[in-house]
Amino acid sequence: MTSDNDRRRGLLARLRGRPVARSRGRRRLGAAVRLAAALMLAGGAYTAFAPGVQAQDTPPLSAAANEGKALFDVSCVTCHGLNGQGVVDRGPSLVGVGSAAVEFQVGTGRMPMVRQEAQAPRKYPQFTDEQVRQLGQYIQELGGGPQVPAGNNLHQNGDVATGGELFRINCSQCHAFTGGGGALSSGKYAPSLMPSSDRQIYAAMLSGPQNMPVFGDNQISPQEKADIIAYIQESLKGTQDQGGFNLGRYGPSTEGVAIFLVGIVALVFASLWIAGKS
Ligand code: HEC
Ligand code: HEC
Repeated sequence: MTSDNDRRRGLLARLRGRPVARSRGRRRLGAAVRLAAALMLAGGAYTAFAPGVQAQDTPPLSAAANEGKALFDVSCVTCHGLNGQGVVDRGPSLVGVGSAAVEFQVGTGRMPMVRQEAQAPRKYPQFTDEQVRQLGQYIQELGGGPQVPAGNNLHQNGDVATGGELFRINCSQCHAFTGGGGALSSGKYAPSLMPSSDRQIYAAMLSGPQNMPVFGDNQISPQEKADIIAYIQESLKGTQDQGGFNLGRYGPSTEGVAIFLVGIVALVFASLWIAGKS
């Protein structure tokens, strides 16, 4: 029995065993080599005939963007990731947010964020205007997005009255009629607009930070943005409390009292002068 079995096993092995397996393996190896060669050939031909694809993978950055990338790789990369693609539970992707969002976040000192919290507060900015511009340029070249127009005075041809109307419709429900800000739900707040520059207001509208809606140029045209900024800078900031003594803001009574007093003093001097002449 055992010898019979042994013989049968040997026969089977010789019939379909190693020699067969080896040739199948060799055939597979041959196929794999041919496939690899074909792939390499196709890949080589593709890169040779389509050089643009390679260029798109690593677009060359401008000088300003390179400076920005250097800053980014030190101060932002831990939360926003290499190439700004975001880090789970730390910071969102910045691809496509545009230089407007960077200018807003870094220019108002909100970024770099110090610790994770519901809302990054406005702080004294860590970067100079030039560095903010470079960081913005880097994010812009990385993924495009909205940009604030050039210049520091963006409201010179804005209309204060139209701006006031637009402000009451679009902004006052969160920032209050005075622009002084107010609380929102779950510990968040709409901040005061008093420290904001023209560019920061424009950037806030373009990027819509936190709960604030994005006011793209389709919703609020560049002219209307100028109107709103003019209203904030020339009307709202003008009527804000500048410190010192006031009468609790009962309308124009402070001014009224001032004019009354100045007028009385002027009248007294005028009558003294007339009395002295006669
Ligand atoms: C400690 C983590 C942290 C660091 C460091 C940090 N960020 Fe952020 N960043 C966040 C978080 C979280 C948010 C989202 C919360 C928010 O918008 O307030 C955010 C939001 C942003 C946004 C807004 C994105 C959008 O969708 O509008 C920009 C732009 C931004 N960061 C840029 C930067 C830049 C530039 C730096 C480096 C100078 C930086 N951040 C450093 C955590 C961080
Ligand atoms: C739904 C509520 C909401 C509306 C409506 C809204 N905002 Fe905001 N706004 C916010 C919040 C919330 C923030 C704070 C974002 C942050 O801290 O990241 C903010 C921030 C800002 C800032 C930044 C202030 C600073 O610190 O310098 C400006 C400027 C601003 N908004 C302007 C506007 C203007 C102009 C409008 C109307 C066109 C508007 N907002 C409408 C909620 C709102």
